[in-house]
Amino acid sequence: MKVTDSKLLKGFTRMCQDGFDQGWHERNGGNLSYRMKEEEVKALEGEFSFDAEWKELGTEVPALKNEYFMVTGSGKYMRNMETFPEENLCIIRLDETGTKYQIVWGLVDGGKPTSELPTHLMNLEVCKKRDENIRVVYHCHPTNVIALTYVLPLNDRVFTREIFEMATECPVVFPKGIGVIPWLLCGGKLIGEATAKVMETKDFAVWAHHGAFACGTDFDITFGLMHTVEKAAEVLVKVMSMTDRKLNTITPQQFRELNEPFGIEIDEQFLYERKTGFIGEMPQD
Ligand code: 13P
Ligand code: ZN
Repeated sequence: MKVTDSKLLKGFTRMCQDGFDQGWHERNGGNLSYRMKEEEVKALEGEFSFDAEWKELGTEVPALKNEYFMVTGSGKYMRNMETFPEENLCIIRLDETGTKYQIVWGLVDGGKPTSELPTHLMNLEVCKKRDENIRVVYHCHPTNVIALTYVLPLNDRVFTREIFEMATECPVVFPKGIGVIPWLLCGGKLIGEATAKVMETKDFAVWAHHGAFACGTDFDITFGLMHTVEKAAEVLVKVMSMTDRKLNTITPQQFRELNEPFGIEIDEQFLYERKTGFIGEMPQD
C-alpha cells in the first residue's frame, strides 16, 4: 500500500490540520510523532528505502530499538502536512541500540525530523513501559495554557487543580493531572528527560512559556486531551480577567463524587482544601 493512501497517514495529517485550525501551530510551531504498529510497518514497507545515512538521535531509547515512527519534519508547517505529506513529514526507523535513526520515507526535498525528536522518543519510551498501547505524542503551542504559565505558580498540584475546577470533565479525562516544567532550553535531551519524568505517570506536560505535550493511544484521544486542557485553560483565563477569587467552584468533595460513576481515581494530591480562595494559592501541606 502507498503511504499516502494509508489510514495512518490520513489520521496523522488530519490531527496536524486540526491543531493548526485551533491556532496552536503558528509558523512551524509544534510537532507530532506516532510509534507504528508492526502490521502498519508490514503494509507500508514496500515503499520504504533503506539507503539514507544513520544519524545520532542525541539520546538513548533502548526500549524502542528497531521500531518505526511517523514524525513531522523540523521547520515544517503543520498547515502543510495534509496537502504535501511527502515533503513535510517522514517515517524513521531506529537502530539496534536505540541511539540512531534513519529516514525510510518522506522529507523528499531534504530535511530532518522535528528538533523535539529526543523529547518525543523519550516520552514514547516511558509511555510504552507503562502502557504498550500509547503510541502518540503531540506537542503544540496552545495560547491559553501558555498564558497561564505567566500567572500561576509552576507547580503540578496548583496548575492541575485550577484547570480541574474549570470543567467537570477535566478530572475524568486526565485524573492523574498535569506536570509543569519550568522554562528549559527546548530541542535537547535535558528538556526531554524532564518531560519523560512527567510522562512516567501522567499524560500531559506543560512547558512554561512555550507549549504543551500530550500522549495517548490514538490520535482522537491525544487531540481530545489537548483540546480539553486548552478549553479549560481558556475558561480560567476568562475567569482571571474578571476576578482573582471565584464566588462559586467545584469542591474537593464534589470531585470525589466523580470517581465511582466514571470509574476513575482522581489523585488526592490535587484535592487539597483551599484556604484563601485566591486563584493560584499554594496548598498548605
Ligand atoms: P520543529 O519545527 O523542529 O518541530 O520545532 C517546532 C517547535 O515547536 C519546537 O518546540
Ligand atoms: Zn514548540
